[in-house]
Amino acid sequence: MTFDNQTRILIVYDSNGGNTYRMAQQIARGVESVKNCHAILRATPKVGDRSATALPEVPESGAPFAETADLRECEGLIIGSPTHFGNMSASLKYFLDQTTEQWFAGTLAGKPAAAFTSTGSMHGGQESTLLSMMVPLLHHGMLICGLPYSNPELMQTLRGGTPYGASHVAGEDGKAPLAPTETALCKALGARVASIALALTNSPEAARS
Ligand SMILES: Cc1cc2nc3c(=O)[nH]c(=O)nc-3n(C[C@H](O)[C@H](O)[C@H](O)COP(=O)(O)O)c2cc1C
Repeated sequence: MTFDNQTRILIVYDSNGGNTYRMAQQIARGVESVKNCHAILRATPKVGDRSATALPEVPESGAPFAETADLRECEGLIIGSPTHFGNMSASLKYFLDQTTEQWFAGTLAGKPAAAFTSTGSMHGGQESTLLSMMVPLLHHGMLICGLPYSNPELMQTLRGGTPYGASHVAGEDGKAPLAPTETALCKALGARVASIALALTNSPEAARS
């Protein structure tokens, strides 16, 4: 299922300080480097900003808010979160916890997925965050994509970048820009999910078996 002949990759992220958002932008570039693939960026609403009845109207900055209905309108999904105590943020988890309807309907089953994160410190829990982000995606029946070592930056990086997904080390002040290796791996992750989604779109029976 495509729109205007485009394979759509939904990138849903949470970000407080902008680091994970900047990663999402680079991942989107990777998606759009693949012919006929289109990136859709969506931010998760903040758990603390929600009232019982309504979402805040429009995000102050970054992408429009993610809605669970967006999950129907994509051929692949990439989720991003700052590392919070070695795990994804409450806001991303809260968004995922709204997706039981899509879970029962199999909306995401057979579609490729991946994860990315930003941490403050080098060994502050990137792998644990990325691995735990994969768990709900597996429950949805998604096909998890990591980063293969054919990306030379995985061996070269002195900052973020893991075989479990893209990552970034923001440093003590939380302001370190994306290193060239981190940027390259963000783009590689976006391109990988997009290429696989495109291939599965052309051969949907392969993913459903
Ligand atoms: C509640 C909280 C918990 C955090 N836990 C960790 C952690 O476990 N490990 C780490 O390295 N950094 C941790 N950090 C730092 C953030 O992961 C880091 O600043 C990240 O770059 C923020 O991304 P953002 O700019 O997209 O919000 C934590 C920050 C907050 C606010």
